[in-house]
Formats: sequence, structure tokens, C-alpha cells
Amino acid sequence: MSRTKVFQDPRPRRTPRTEGPPSVYPIKQVHFLEQPEQVLLPPLNEVLDRRRSGRELAPPSLKEVGHLLWFGCRVRASTEGTPGPIQSRPAPAAGGLHALDLLISRLPGVPGLLLYDPFSHALRTLEPIQDDALGLYHRKVETLFPNSEGCVITLLADHAKLDAKYVHWQSLALRDAGALLATLGICAAGLGMGFCFAGILGNEILAAGGIENGARIPVGSAIVGGAANP
Ligand SMILES: Cc1cc2nc3c(=O)[nH]c(=O)nc-3n(C[C@H](O)[C@H](O)[C@H](O)COP(=O)(O)O)c2cc1C
Repeated sequence: MSRTKVFQDPRPRRTPRTEGPPSVYPIKQVHFLEQPEQVLLPPLNEVLDRRRSGRELAPPSLKEVGHLLWFGCRVRASTEGTPGPIQSRPAPAAGGLHALDLLISRLPGVPGLLLYDPFSHALRTLEPIQDDALGLYHRKVETLFPNSEGCVITLLADHAKLDAKYVHWQSLALRDAGALLATLGICAAGLGMGFCFAGILGNEILAAGGIENGARIPVGSAIVGGAANP
């Protein structure tokens, strides 16, 4: 009996290709985020016992989002590699490539669409954006989470980067997204924030950010905020 495989086992290319153009995003402003100084996280056993999906979320502060991204997504160390730097971050990622871009929207006080820069721990405002398309995306998120005022995290895979290093890279994009969102969810629980994966991929964000066709693949989204019912 023949079995149809949706995904194939990835295999590193004998000679990785070099990466294409560095960024496809039109960036305007940079907001440097706070690094946590005196934030003590509870013991891991407490965090794991406490973690639940939170669907009733208050708007998070910029400071809370900064702490979440610091603990869950910053670059801790990196070395030169092909294609692009091999990075160490709190979440694992295939080949250390970290080929996912993290976008944030619906963040109180910072309108529009923001790209997290995990090297400098900053948010970069994308501009111009299509407000209509972003509104459409947020309405879709609202149908999933009608009682949440949390901000929206969307992950976009830089598939050219994965493809440069791996044959059959497709599943890696989704598995990297699961690893990153799970890590962020645990960090959110540690910080007393609410977090929930969303079942949608985030396709609408491509039009919202004016991201050129085929340059990125949306691979998952989540909401995060202050726990409205801790
Ligand atoms: C890939 C994925 C997609 C999910 N999508 C949604 C969603 O669209 N809406 C929702 O309310 N919860 C969503 N969840 C959360 C699950 O419903 C939740 O994890 C599950 O019910 C277990 O509850 P717990 O996380 O509180 O332990 C999703 C979880 C995962 C991992």
C-alpha cells in the first residue's frame, strides 16, 4: 500500500546557498524596548502548573511586551553562518537559523504593524501599511477571541532562508513556529500574562504590511495580554 506524505524529511544541502536580500519590510520608526532588570520569574514547576490558554486578556503594556520578547525571543548569542547568522535564542529553531519574523499588532500606544528585532531588542514600525487589510485581520482575530484586548503576534517564515539550507524545508517552518509560540506561552505564564495560540495562520498580514508576494509565509499567530481574570 502506498502512503502519501504531506511532509518529507528535511535534509541539509551539501552546499548551503547564500541568502537573498536581507529584508522585505518597509521600516519607518524604531522603538527600543526595556530589558528586564529586577523581574524575578517564579520557579519552573509553578509556571508549568499555572500555564493555561488565556482568552480574556487586558491590553498589555509596552513594558510587558518588552519583557515577554526578551525572555522568549531575543538573540542570546550568534555566530556567522550560511545562510545568515547561526543564533542562540530561548526557543530552539532548525539549524539555529531562526527563519521566522515576529510581527506584533494591536499594541496599545503603538499603532500599526511592528516587526521585532531580536538582535537589538526593538520594535520597528512598518510603513506604509494597508489599514483596511490590517483591520480585516484583526476582525478575524476578534471572531476567535471576542473578549480579548490582547495584542496579536504573527509569525512569518522566511522560507528562502530555510530553502537555502535544507531540501524539504516545509515542515521546519511550522515546527519552528510551534517551538517559538510554546516558548512565548511559557514565558507569558511566568510573567503573569495571558497567552493563547490562534488557529489561523495570519495570511491577511501580508497585504496589511505590503509584503511582496511570495516573500514570506504566515505560519501562526497568538494573542497576548494582561490576564483579565488571573
Ligand atoms: C495550534 C493551536 C491552535 C489553537 N487555536 C486556538 C483558537 O483558535 N482559539 C482558541 O480559543 N484556542 C486555541 N488554541 C488553544 C487550545 O484550545 C488549548 O491549548 C487547549 O484547549 C488546551 O487548553 P490549555 O492551553 O488551557 O491547556 C490553540 C492551540 C494550538 C496549539
